[in-house]
Amino acid sequence: MSRAAKVVAALQVDEMTERQARAEHKRLADEIAHHDKLYHEKDDPEISDAEYDRLRQRLKAIEARFPQLVDMFSPTQKVAPTPTTAFAKVRHAKPMLSLDNAFTDEELQGFLDRVRRGLERETDLKPDAEIALSCEAKIDGLSISLRYEDGVFVQGATRGDGSTGEDVTANLKTIKDIPQKLKGKDVPKAFDVRGEVYMERNAFMELNARQVAAGEKAYVNPRNTAAGSLRQLDPEITARRPLRFFAYAWGEAEPRAWKTHSEYLKLLKEWGFKINPLTKLCRTADDVRAFYRKIGEERPSLPYDIDGVVYKVDRIDWQERLGFVSRAPRWAIAHKFPAEQARTRLKGIFIQVGRTGALTPVADLEPINVGGVVVARATLHNADEIERLDVREGDMVIVQRAGDVIPQVLGFVPEERPKKTEKFHFPTKCPCPLKTPVKSEEGGVVRRCSGGLECPFQQVERLRYFVSRNCFDIEGLGGTHIENFFNDGLLKIPGDIFRLPGKKDLIRKREGWGDLSVNNLIKAIEDRKTISLDRFINALGIPLIGEATAKIMAQEYGDVDDWLAEMLKAAKERKKAPDDVKKEKAVAEVGESYGRLCNVEQIGVTTADAIAAFFSEGHNVEIIRDLRKQLTVEAVKRRAVAADALLKDKIVVFTGELSSMTRDAAKARAEELGAKVTDSVSKKTSLVVVGENAGSKARKAAELGVQTMTEEEWVKLSR
Ligand code: IVH
Repeated sequence: MSRAAKVVAALQVDEMTERQARAEHKRLADEIAHHDKLYHEKDDPEISDAEYDRLRQRLKAIEARFPQLVDMFSPTQKVAPTPTTAFAKVRHAKPMLSLDNAFTDEELQGFLDRVRRGLERETDLKPDAEIALSCEAKIDGLSISLRYEDGVFVQGATRGDGSTGEDVTANLKTIKDIPQKLKGKDVPKAFDVRGEVYMERNAFMELNARQVAAGEKAYVNPRNTAAGSLRQLDPEITARRPLRFFAYAWGEAEPRAWKTHSEYLKLLKEWGFKINPLTKLCRTADDVRAFYRKIGEERPSLPYDIDGVVYKVDRIDWQERLGFVSRAPRWAIAHKFPAEQARTRLKGIFIQVGRTGALTPVADLEPINVGGVVVARATLHNADEIERLDVREGDMVIVQRAGDVIPQVLGFVPEERPKKTEKFHFPTKCPCPLKTPVKSEEGGVVRRCSGGLECPFQQVERLRYFVSRNCFDIEGLGGTHIENFFNDGLLKIPGDIFRLPGKKDLIRKREGWGDLSVNNLIKAIEDRKTISLDRFINALGIPLIGEATAKIMAQEYGDVDDWLAEMLKAAKERKKAPDDVKKEKAVAEVGESYGRLCNVEQIGVTTADAIAAFFSEGHNVEIIRDLRKQLTVEAVKRRAVAADALLKDKIVVFTGELSSMTRDAAKARAEELGAKVTDSVSKKTSLVVVGENAGSKARKAAELGVQTMTEEEWVKLSR
């Protein structure tokens, strides 16, 4: 930026001359275009949403004061950049518009007043009459339009520039929240359902961990991951991404049987869509404000990201009367949550050792309130990120908190950098007492302590994880207790936790412990001696296995002993196999157990290899056996199958695209009929149902002489 431009950039809008405003308008428009490109085309933004919103607000303020600057190239006149070309273009039957934002209570009041004035002008609305608003959480994902003809899903597209989007039908077909066929009555013949594709936070974190492990670049947040996943050219990749969908609007809808937005939401549910549960019809401004506050409070504990609340005039005849201005309806607004960002001083950077030995640089901050929560630490992710941010001890840094995701440092404020600062050098030795050398892994992104199982810091972290909320959830062992017990030799391996009740007297003698707290602890431990299989798997801290994958594994294997036996077999098979394995050939080239494992939903070769490596360490197996002796691990309850069920004990595989039902529905039906549904074809497979465009699995079935049938035949058989 030139010096003159810098001066203008620091001015308030009402201090600018017209010439300055013109220059600043152009600079902002260019900058916004640059960030739009990064966001929409590359799914890789450089700045936070709050910073982006600030740029747009400043541009809008300039246009409000100098309306002559508004032209067709101004970002305020566009919804989003024109789509890139990798996908076929789809023209939306009705444009997909955006929403105006309100950031403050005054702006909300402004919206409510405008709606009331508009309706008083356009209809016979009485001055005190109620205007009901449908209030909904604003899901932080990407909006898409789904075309249904005679109730059948035929095409799906991204928003693109609002009039033309990209055809991502094949990818959308892999999302289980999107019905292929609508059920119930009053479905419009020609119908666009609109809503938000998003990814849950847990799923995002697990996926990102796998992404990094495979040497690929980590995604920034769940929304960009969802966008990136939906724009994959190979639907098989999208299918492995846990995408979800909430419906909340429509485009074309002929004929339309509903008169209010809230009626529409009810119908959507009947037709088979998922509706966001944080939705309420509010009749007064106070109700609206209370709803906004309540959702804001719930925000950190939701499983997915939201960035505000959307208010929509409920009556559709009123919506029609109010109409639109350029890119947004007059009858709706997005009330954004305050940016969860703040500035504070970076006191220092220290290195944290994770349970797998990964070294994470952590920012030690002057405590600061960020969106209602005091933050004293924030992650700096890895060595590359520190290098990229170039943050240094003593810097004034910008900290962001999004939901319950770990706070992060976004950058530093150059004007406030102290005179003498030093670039951060990543240590070459682990900070643990063993001071083992640090090794670089996974394409250099991750640095790891080479101490492995011997590293005491890792041991403590593994124990901490074991007792954490999503694992054994043992209350009373949190905080520094694990570390203290470990240092004093009361705990070394997870099984020791269940031997603590026998050491009651020793614990009671410790500082800070009394009868009550000891008894509570013992009770909490005893209560967890019976545990579900998914929690058990999650707690072991197997690299790349988190809560979601643990659940899927538990479903697949059902029983702890079967699971353990299969993992040990898979590890053995893997040892004998060549380095480079393809998922499709894993059964044939590695073995049945390994093949089964890497074909489990969301696992694949990288994760299967991590699991195999874990189970080939004798120490890990001993830990599990020790736990197994002390605990009851509940088997996953499967629905009882009648002895005469049609497909009892049969192994069924579905391959290719099914047109009359989703893969999940077909799978559920097969399981109801007593079958076990797997992903890969082997000699043991009893039946392969072959859909459209099936590939290698159908060929393999033919080679092995396994029975196959078409979708039509399956429908008849399973009816
Ligand atoms: S209604 C014409 N409802 O927010 C009105 N949008 O900033 C169409 N969004 O493009 C949008 N949750 O991607 C609506 N409950 C909700 C929403 C929602 C998230 C997104 C959507 C929209 C953007 C506008």
